[in-house]
Amino acid sequence: MASIPELHDLKLWADPNAVQVNRLPMRTPFASASSIRVSLNGDWRIKRFAHPEDIALRELGELCDDSDWVSIPVPSNWTQFDLGDVPHYTNIAMPWRETPPHLPKEVPTAVYRRNFKVESAWSDRRIVLHVGAAESVHSVRVNGEFVGYGTDSRLASEYDISAFVREGMNLVSITVCRYSAQSYVEDQDQWWMAGLHRDMFIEAQPLLRIEDVRVDAEVGDVRDSLTGNGQLRIVTRVAAPTSERFPSGVKVMATLHNVNGKQIGIQHTADVAYSTRPYLFVGHVAENQWPVNGVKLWSAELPHRYIVRISLLNQNGKVIDSTEQWIGFRKVEVVDGDLLVNGKRIMIQGVNRHDHHPDRGKAVTVQDMRDDVVAMKQHNINAVRCSHYPNDPRFLDICDELGLYVVDEANIESHAWITSLCHDSAYRATWLSRVSRMVERDKNHPSVIMWSLGNESGYGNVHDAAAAWVRSYDPSRIIHYEGAIFHTNWFDGGMAATDVVAPMYSPIAAIEMYGKSKKRIRPLIMCEYSHAMGNSNGSLSDYWKVFDNTPGLQGGFIWEWKDHGLRQLLPNGKERFAYGGQFGDSPHDGNFVADGLMHADLTPHPAMREVAWVHRPVAAQLVGPKSAPSIELKNRQSFRDVSWLSATYEIVIDGVVKRKGKLALTSLGAGNSKRIKAPSIRGLSGDIRLNIMWKTKRAELWCDRGHVVAWDQLVMKSARLKKIQVSQKKSATLNVEPQLSLFRASIDNDGFKLLPNLAWVETTTLKRWQQQGIDEAIPQLVKHETKTQVRTDGSVRFEHTILIPKTLDDLPRIGVTFPLPEGFTEISWWGNGPHECYPDRQSSATLGIFSGQADELPYLVPQEYGLRTSCRWFEVRNLHTAETIRIEADGQPLHMSALPYTTQDLYQAADQTELIKRPYLTMNIDIAHRGLGTASCGPDVLPQYRISAGKYQFAYVISRESRGANR
Ligand code: GAL
Repeated sequence: MASIPELHDLKLWADPNAVQVNRLPMRTPFASASSIRVSLNGDWRIKRFAHPEDIALRELGELCDDSDWVSIPVPSNWTQFDLGDVPHYTNIAMPWRETPPHLPKEVPTAVYRRNFKVESAWSDRRIVLHVGAAESVHSVRVNGEFVGYGTDSRLASEYDISAFVREGMNLVSITVCRYSAQSYVEDQDQWWMAGLHRDMFIEAQPLLRIEDVRVDAEVGDVRDSLTGNGQLRIVTRVAAPTSERFPSGVKVMATLHNVNGKQIGIQHTADVAYSTRPYLFVGHVAENQWPVNGVKLWSAELPHRYIVRISLLNQNGKVIDSTEQWIGFRKVEVVDGDLLVNGKRIMIQGVNRHDHHPDRGKAVTVQDMRDDVVAMKQHNINAVRCSHYPNDPRFLDICDELGLYVVDEANIESHAWITSLCHDSAYRATWLSRVSRMVERDKNHPSVIMWSLGNESGYGNVHDAAAAWVRSYDPSRIIHYEGAIFHTNWFDGGMAATDVVAPMYSPIAAIEMYGKSKKRIRPLIMCEYSHAMGNSNGSLSDYWKVFDNTPGLQGGFIWEWKDHGLRQLLPNGKERFAYGGQFGDSPHDGNFVADGLMHADLTPHPAMREVAWVHRPVAAQLVGPKSAPSIELKNRQSFRDVSWLSATYEIVIDGVVKRKGKLALTSLGAGNSKRIKAPSIRGLSGDIRLNIMWKTKRAELWCDRGHVVAWDQLVMKSARLKKIQVSQKKSATLNVEPQLSLFRASIDNDGFKLLPNLAWVETTTLKRWQQQGIDEAIPQLVKHETKTQVRTDGSVRFEHTILIPKTLDDLPRIGVTFPLPEGFTEISWWGNGPHECYPDRQSSATLGIFSGQADELPYLVPQEYGLRTSCRWFEVRNLHTAETIRIEADGQPLHMSALPYTTQDLYQAADQTELIKRPYLTMNIDIAHRGLGTASCGPDVLPQYRISAGKYQFAYVISRESRGANR
């Protein structure tokens, strides 16, 4: 076996100290006019090895015949191809047992090879190879010669390959180790993938050129939060032709333009420092700085951008290089314990986002990222935490453009070894390198308002050191690090490493106590909350009630945006979105990887309606005397007037829209409230509700005209349920025998049915229910009595009395279930909707009459779904026979659902391919249904949404009618 100097003898991949060899300094990603960029995306030949030491030197050089190697497209993850290496999912655990920095026997490695051409015209240029991202570490050779080595799977590495290339065709080979000593600080809760997953290119750069640009668009004084007096500072680093002295008389000219390209003000020119006198040498930089009065400020609501154009002029004043940067003026600060943007307190309505695509894995496209951001904006999300690493750099361009506040997070998570690695000097360099290189890359983005030092990596002096570097390099943003407060305390703990108290999954009571405390000096913004695993996000609106009404609280980031399901074709031809273990990967953490608000293919889960509602820009409530109430409208935005929206109302009587109109409100400033007269309901009777909807007047970059951004339903008059009349017409009696039902197909928050060996499973609610046996049968101790009365019109009244003993306190549901006849597929109801809702996730629902097909299972792992709360009646219809089965609540509204699966079907199935739709719907009618909570990671259902022991009584009438339309 040949020895490979950089791989074999030094074993860089196994050395945590080795951060880089021959890598160029990080810079802002920009295209310069003078450089020629040639993409190396496309097919590369690839060969897999079980270990880097198995690679023969020949395989990295020109003598190797790689014609029998396979080709895969780059960017991609090789784990998405049939190369014998599958995706592997673990949350906290490393995928192997060894201790840091030791590696397992197998370290899957691949060599990528391809040719590229160097033009004859490039002889006086520097040739740079850009590796967009490689998981986990990589080593580069050109024409068989070692060029350099780089780490950090989520940042680019660039190498000067000028000395290694020749005119004409050249060979680049890149060895990528899937695992390395660096993996210990990349232990995030996601799939372990592998390969070159971001753009690859070479760049032929002139020797005298713009090397990097830093633009600080500061705001000296904010006028009215929308405009201010800006100070532009542009520091341009110019590359020096190494062999010569740097010429004098080289200048940088900079201009500011609006988004249409129109120049604002005059051009500004500065000399590039050329003296290389020791001691005085500052680097070949030029600093252009000037005030710009009356700039429009950037915010997530109004993302005003400008363009800075930078030109490099030679001694004769000729432009020899140029580039541009899109920038935004805005000010971020913490003042008196509040996070302010442009002088205003903002609320973070955020989500955590990973780069993920069900087919492409980590190799997301610009369109994928834009689709994510558009969907976020359409659900009133205004902030994103790049959990847990710098995303593809183009993601930030989209956030700048469409308006999202960003927490940019360094690619550091040493979760499995949380208490040791941050104190381990072998890892010190990687910590600093990862944080500083991220900041250097993303420094010009207005969307980035906080730098995060990483995730779940303990708290050591390496954090304080990294924070100190950031503070000194970029005082214009604040620092975020959850570990600094988790391992100390929320009040004065970890002050050096975090400017915000950013806890994860804390109960509402805890954050409220912090917000109200006199000891509080930092704002509290939850870096993760409301764990969206399966049917979840209970109490989201309870969180927001407290966020909105407690001084120190400024929102948070829901965990997380999207499920990480990976599309997988099974031998039986079925397709599924796979989770941990389904590739044969072991150890694994099952479906814990599927905890998003969106399905992996970007279909929203029902909770997205609640997300949009809790974040709505305008809220309405009824105030004043019941007889003549007013509507109080509150503009919840920080910067924007409501004038971009038009408001309409509907008066809904007994579920039917009876009157529509426009609200007479043209303007309402950010943060302001106003009372307007409610439409009169004099003379009207029944259950009367006022729906208020806010729609966009014009298309925005992220939505069409007429997109509904906010809604509220106000109860003007609630009415008791009417007595159910006996019809004159006699119909056939539907023979059903409602069975008592106390169990729901457990949701992920009840307990992990697929992960019975997890340590904390013993304490889950599901475990308790299993011990009580309610997942299999009705316990003897429960008393259930049904009174059945066939009425003269053929309908049947059922009345249930259920006694739940104290020992069975806190059940999943109390209700009944029965199969409906085949052929009844369409549902309609007068109740909460239109989307699925549960007692602690129904603020976004309105009470009305809705109809549609029975719901499809929206979740990756089968579980309880499809409930509609507070139903007055529920109908299922047979389209062929035009028959309707109607279930009418008698006395009090009931929660109902009609699903093509039974509870046991859903409970027993591990994934969608195991579910077989029944040819009939199963009807569920509940008097009580436990809330959802977020206990898969976070607090369980709040006490008010639990079901206590005691007596439950409810009644309903079932009729079968040969009639189409709803009543
Ligand atoms: C947090 C972690 C996330 C994710 C989440 C649970 O502890 O930061 O990466 O694992 O829990 O899904």
